[in-house]
Amino acid sequence: MTSLGIVLVGPRGRLGRLVLDEVQARTSAVLVGAVHRAVTPSLPDDEVCVRASLDDVLADVRPPEPGAPIVVVDVATAGSTAAHAEACAKHGVPLVCATTGLSDADRAALSAAAQRTAVLVAANLSPGAHLVALLAAQAAAAMAHADCEIVEVHHRLKKDAPSGTALMLADAVAEGRGDPKARRVCAREGEAKRQDGDIGVVAVRGGDVVGEHTVTFFAAGERVELVHKVSDRAVFAKGALDAAAFLAGRAPGLYAMTDVLKAKLGR
Ligand SMILES: NC(=O)c1ccc[n+]([C@@H]2O[C@H](COP(=O)([O-])OP(=O)(O)OC[C@H]3O[C@@H](n4cnc5c(N)ncnc54)[C@H](OP(=O)(O)O)[C@@H]3O)[C@@H](O)[C@H]2O)c1
Repeated sequence: MTSLGIVLVGPRGRLGRLVLDEVQARTSAVLVGAVHRAVTPSLPDDEVCVRASLDDVLADVRPPEPGAPIVVVDVATAGSTAAHAEACAKHGVPLVCATTGLSDADRAALSAAAQRTAVLVAANLSPGAHLVALLAAQAAAAMAHADCEIVEVHHRLKKDAPSGTALMLADAVAEGRGDPKARRVCAREGEAKRQDGDIGVVAVRGGDVVGEHTVTFFAAGERVELVHKVSDRAVFAKGALDAAAFLAGRAPGLYAMTDVLKAKLGR
């Protein structure tokens, strides 16, 4: 089997180290390049092409074997996403962008890059969360008149609320109902009676919870709950490499983790 060459941006971060572990655990993937800001651009490296900028890595990197694909996995914190997207477009190398907190300019750069290469943007790389999104869309279609509420729980240090995943699940419910503009109600206080069609989103914070999301559909006399719980951040690294394998050889375009899941399901 042809190996997939991985270029990793942000290899020394928490997620970057998990992606490195996952690359080593897979026989189908090989680390061929890494971007680390502290590295002197001219530093030679025989096995892995390490440079201070992605543009420099992509100019010099070699595939693990002739003709084998290379995919960039960007797990750096926000700030240089646009530059990374431009480098991937320039060199025609697919990009998995796992960075969160993207600006409008970053998103525009990713969309522009997707005109020239395959780009997958995922605020949540966990395959299970996307399975829940697919199921939530189906449940929303089947239970069109049910009240839907989403509760997410995260560790006490999480900065943003509600989580990007909770908003993604709300989007899936709205799409499933055929009402993409359905009102999202993020927490309630005082006079806040539920209106038909509202999608409630509640954020709970505490302790060291990695991430939990529950989507509940309340119908007359019964309710359906879809629950997703992450207990090990390694699922994000597995998702990153599944996404990279999915992108190898794909036509230019903007992809999402649901596309990876649908490909697995043969849709
Ligand atoms: N999509 C998902 O499922 C998912 C899951 C977890 C985390 N994330 C996101 O992934 C990102 C990283 O998270 P983390 O927890 O690993 O953060 P972290 O531990 O703070 O690590 C971030 C890494 O990014 C590197 N970096 C920043 N700018 C860079 C650049 N221009 N070139 C090369 N490296 C650069 C940093 O390098 P230095 O060492 O030089 O500072 C650092 O090693 C965040 O945006 C986070 O929200 C996404």
